[in-house]
Amino acid sequence: MSTPVGTGTADPGIRGIIEGSQVLPGRRTALLNEPAGTPPMNAPAPSLAPDWAALRREFPTLERWTYLDAARKTPLARCAERAMQEYTRDIYEDAGAEAWNSANVGRTRTLLAQLLGCTPTSLAFTKNTAEGLAIAAHAFELRAGDNILLTDMEHVVNLWVWKHYEAKGVEIRKVESRDGRMPIEAYLEKIDARTRLISTAYVTYANGWRIDVDALAEECRKRDIRLVLDGVQGAGMLARRIDSLGADFVAIGAHKSLQGLTGTGVVWCRDELVNEIRTEFVRSPQIMKGADIGQFDYVVEQHRFEAGNPNFLGLWVLRRSAEWLLSIGLPAIEGRVRDLTESLLDRVERAGIRTQTSRDWNRRCHIVNLVVPDALALQKQLRERNIVVNVKDDKLRASVSFYNEEADLDVLMDALAELGATAR
Ligand SMILES: Cc1ncc(COP(=O)(O)O)c(C=O)c1O
Repeated sequence: MSTPVGTGTADPGIRGIIEGSQVLPGRRTALLNEPAGTPPMNAPAPSLAPDWAALRREFPTLERWTYLDAARKTPLARCAERAMQEYTRDIYEDAGAEAWNSANVGRTRTLLAQLLGCTPTSLAFTKNTAEGLAIAAHAFELRAGDNILLTDMEHVVNLWVWKHYEAKGVEIRKVESRDGRMPIEAYLEKIDARTRLISTAYVTYANGWRIDVDALAEECRKRDIRLVLDGVQGAGMLARRIDSLGADFVAIGAHKSLQGLTGTGVVWCRDELVNEIRTEFVRSPQIMKGADIGQFDYVVEQHRFEAGNPNFLGLWVLRRSAEWLLSIGLPAIEGRVRDLTESLLDRVERAGIRTQTSRDWNRRCHIVNLVVPDALALQKQLRERNIVVNVKDDKLRASVSFYNEEADLDVLMDALAELGATAR
């Protein structure tokens, strides 16, 4: 069961009012994209197929490179370049009236909520996935004898942020994958009566395994186990509402498929949880208006996880990227990524190369791994031919986005054939 995005509410709530309260009268310029000019909430996916060739031309990197490393970072689109110019120009010409305007931060939040499928009030801005996971990893009171489940397919950040619990006698258990797969049974094998929390990638970084999040969330609900998702590899690729995943926290860095700069990200937190949990962050007095400032837990929204000046430039770029992605539509992007990875899997199979990536679209996303000998040497040789791929867990990782085309896959496979890459 999956619920597409595009049905979030437009109301930024009290946060929007607060963020809107810093608008300087008379200073709003054409630089701003007013909410009225952005796609409305509940907008259906555009019915016409996007012009993928035209969208591809928005990425200058692709004129020189066969870029198959979307799972690492996005090659920035022209809209990011324009956004950085807008931001800088505003500081030069208008002393930052718009660049440092918190109303624009509010607009970024609203657009991202629309893109990801949640309310704006449920999103807090972070620096990256690691920071979102760290917020989750300091939010719960666990006791000696409790245990946390991680998996053996996590990015290292989703291991280290939990380590501090060990000093309190909390056990960290690793769910074991089976040749790159993590079926629900693998989690069930490790769960017991003292399991309090599971933190796992929604889409894993190495071979792109997409977990059965509905089954896992259901098991967690039955046992009152908290579920934290590392959502960075699925966000901006999959048209599934973030608030339908059944998680308590979802951490996302924006520098991959959300098309943002490094140093920006979001963490989503389930509404019912946000006021129960601890945070060490302190917000500005403005946020505390009307609240009892004698206590720390006064901000009744997820923004209590933010502190001080935000990354205004990064959030400006993210706003422009979110507008752009919304205009393309996540359902269209997901379909494109499904077709491209299907096509790549066909090619890999024809070449006789083994992959751990699933053929089942529900169990993969934009990543295909190739089990080849000496993947690192191969990556280097490919780069010398202007082909960018990655190596994870000793295997070649190719990852696509909507800006890729079939010809990119041919370029990669032809080069692999010439380089004599064969099955391991
Ligand atoms: C699944 C996953 N989690 C976390 C990270 C680290 O992300 P960040 O730099 O946003 O903390 C990565 C980076 O590639 C990743 O693939």
